[in-house]
Amino acid sequence: MKGVREHLFGEQDLAYIEATSPDPHAALAAIEAAAEPEKIPILDRASGRVLAALFAGRRRVVEVGTAIGYSTLWIALATGPAGRIVTIDPDRSRTDRARAFWRQAGVADERIEVVNAPALAAFEAGDAALAGPFDGAFIDALKPEYGAYVEALIPRLLPGALVVADNVLWSGRVSGARQPEPDDHSTDALRTFNASMLSDSRFRAAILPIGDGLLTATWRG
Ligand SMILES: C[S@@+](CC[C@H](N)C(=O)[O-])C[C@H]1O[C@@H](n2cnc3c(N)ncnc32)[C@H](O)[C@@H]1O
Repeated sequence: MKGVREHLFGEQDLAYIEATSPDPHAALAAIEAAAEPEKIPILDRASGRVLAALFAGRRRVVEVGTAIGYSTLWIALATGPAGRIVTIDPDRSRTDRARAFWRQAGVADERIEVVNAPALAAFEAGDAALAGPFDGAFIDALKPEYGAYVEALIPRLLPGALVVADNVLWSGRVSGARQPEPDDHSTDALRTFNASMLSDSRFRAAILPIGDGLLTATWRG
């Protein structure tokens, strides 16, 4: 394939990036430590660093899939005091824990609003918090619903808004490098989602081979 690199990233490259980058905020490290023993699926740290770079300076961001607030906090710390985030997760026990970590990081309560409902139902119900307009969106919830999240988001996006979706390589299953489990409903859905986003002329999209695969798409309006 044209442009294939002579060297694929390895552990040493990742260690170099980690050693060269600033330490994450203590509250982010605390979330990592809390998530690990309970196997709460949060973004990996390298993807968090990329999210921060992508969302820096955004003013109104909507997130689908909060868990205990790790990706939310990377975004909130990057947008700075002027940024507002609405984050959606039906699991209140998780989002209550998230709120405590955000406070630990000094992110004021009014900067992050939580919607405790399934995202598609909340969009459909016209929840006022989700009216937008948004200049950023991060998607990290049910993989078979990714396409529907984007369709619900489109009327709420400002021209130039950035839409980012996590897990679009699904641990190698999307490309076929690994076989899906028999009951996997996500792999085909993610293939459809990726193909649709990469070919949609209303977006300028690319897949970053970082973490579990981050799709970034700029809404052209
Ligand atoms: C992968 S985790 C999110 C991780 C988080 N973005 C992070 O990196 O810190 C997915 C979350 O989506 C939530 N979820 C499940 N169904 C959902 C739905 N219909 N709408 C929104 N969130 C949903 C789950 O409760 C779970 O906490």
